[in-house]
Amino acid sequence: MCGIVGYCGPKPASDILLEGLKRLEYRGYDSAGICVGKGEDFQIIKKKGKIKDLREAVPVNLAGTFGIGHTRWATHGEVNDVNSHPHTNDTGEVAVVHNGIIENYNTLKNKLISEGHKFQTDTDTEVIAHLIAKMYHGNLEQAVREALYLLKGTYGLAVMHKKEPGKIVGARNGSPLVLGVGDGEMFLASDVMAMMAHTKDAVYLEDGELVSMTKDSYTMFDLDARHIEKEVEKITWELEQLEKGGYRTFMEKEINEQSQSIKRAFQGRLDLDGATAHLGGLNMSAKQLLNVQRVEVVAAGTSYYAGMVGAYLLERLARIPAHAELSSEVRYKNPIVEPSTLYFVVSQSGETADTLYAMRELQRKGATVLGVCNAVGATIPRESDGGVYIHSGPEIAVASTKAFTSQISVFYLFALLIARMRHFSFEEGYGFIRELDRIPALVGQVLQRAEKVKEIALRYAHHQNFLFLGRGMLYPVALEGALKLKEISYIHAEGYSAAEIKHGPIALINEETPSVFLVPDDGLRDKVITSIKEVKARGGKVIAVAVDGDEEINDIVDEIIRVPKTIDLFYPFLMVVPLQLFAFYAAEELGRDVDQPRNLAKSVTVE
Ligand code: F6R
Repeated sequence: MCGIVGYCGPKPASDILLEGLKRLEYRGYDSAGICVGKGEDFQIIKKKGKIKDLREAVPVNLAGTFGIGHTRWATHGEVNDVNSHPHTNDTGEVAVVHNGIIENYNTLKNKLISEGHKFQTDTDTEVIAHLIAKMYHGNLEQAVREALYLLKGTYGLAVMHKKEPGKIVGARNGSPLVLGVGDGEMFLASDVMAMMAHTKDAVYLEDGELVSMTKDSYTMFDLDARHIEKEVEKITWELEQLEKGGYRTFMEKEINEQSQSIKRAFQGRLDLDGATAHLGGLNMSAKQLLNVQRVEVVAAGTSYYAGMVGAYLLERLARIPAHAELSSEVRYKNPIVEPSTLYFVVSQSGETADTLYAMRELQRKGATVLGVCNAVGATIPRESDGGVYIHSGPEIAVASTKAFTSQISVFYLFALLIARMRHFSFEEGYGFIRELDRIPALVGQVLQRAEKVKEIALRYAHHQNFLFLGRGMLYPVALEGALKLKEISYIHAEGYSAAEIKHGPIALINEETPSVFLVPDDGLRDKVITSIKEVKARGGKVIAVAVDGDEEINDIVDEIIRVPKTIDLFYPFLMVVPLQLFAFYAAEELGRDVDQPRNLAKSVTVE
């Protein structure tokens, strides 16, 4: 979604802003703009479309060493040059970029209009520029604070005023903002990726905090002007992780990184001596964990499907009641929080509004909430009561892939920990770890078979509808396969429990609607075969993802994607990868923008 970059320093600001915006492209956006200041002269250039369109519109030697930039994902007002940020008041003295939504903007706008202000855009953001201009009496920090008192809603924002050249004021409420501390230069961004090329020293703002920066210094304060001291934290990601590393797309790179990223999720957490797992960040003693009677997992999209795998696993392996729920639903259903229930919120970005707000609601009701996140320093890991980083490294493609396998990795570790505390013997724990330890290599073998998936994907990419079907722990994997295909190829796909199709979806089956079946290697296998036969009997084409050695399947289905053998609990790792590859190759075949599919944003920071 929207992205913010700000810069004060000695270098040409336009270069830094455009480069920072380019790094934020992955978040999804539909227009972009910058405001560059040279003394009291502000140059604003904004464009519908991609950063390259903006870059072409920016004069080559644009002078100015401070400025703000923005990528917009439209919420109020259509996608066009005018509605792109930065926005100004009518005299152009104040320039603002803003992430989030101002809920009372209409009331504020009408009042400002009645006072003589003239508006040029349909956005909610423009009211902020007018309000700050109205409140300004020679002190930008004070004007911003006074304006913020009147706003209802969420914001991460950056503001400049012509009367105070070389200064940027930022503020956060519900939309992330981080300060980058350089040597004789300062950065402001909604995401550390925008500044990592220049500094690894970051100060994260919390809600209700503001920052005022110039090239040499910064101060932080709250809405009542009270000074705040904050720690400078190190950004741990490396710049190379933000590059494609020889791949054509980030998605392909990230799919192929999964042996390594799963290994990182396990690293230092498997304890062979104790035949258990160590998850230090949980902040819970063994006694507290033993008192947990139930686990609830709360998440959105792919993270929700990973949470479903986790819930299945916890019930099956750890024999603890567990359930996954959509974060968007949890927030408003007045959830019943019991003291013995442990909550996990799962979020790659750690910023998803639905998940963050659900977490806060649960915490208000007294729940203990643990985060399973990737982005270090994001809001969910900061506000949760503890948690586990998945360490998959930056995920830049909009479609989540390596985060899914790393998220489930964490649930395998947690399930082992809980199982060992309850009924699992040392030998059982040991055996589980030995097999879990093989997973990165087995995922590597699946990736080596990508050509076969590609061949099938190219043959089927021109179909309009697909079904993805699985059972047990492979049911959420089927849902994930359908999501992957629809979001990047725009082919309509539905995921179901294989058993469920006879209750309705089987009506969709014909020669034109292929079904992708995940064929397990356990007690449910024969049931899945029965469902396949039901589809075949109705003329449906079947692509099976099946285990090496399952030869009986050869005569039943049209296409087979093979995965290596493991024990039945671990197939979610091995079977999701071919589905990611299938979606990727189908989308490429159809000429889609795989990394930045239409209408989607990487980090969905609005409800
Ligand atoms: C799908 C996808 C989304 C996200 C969802 C939650 O490929 O990426 O469905 O999984 O928006 O995002 P996070 O995990 O950042 O909370």
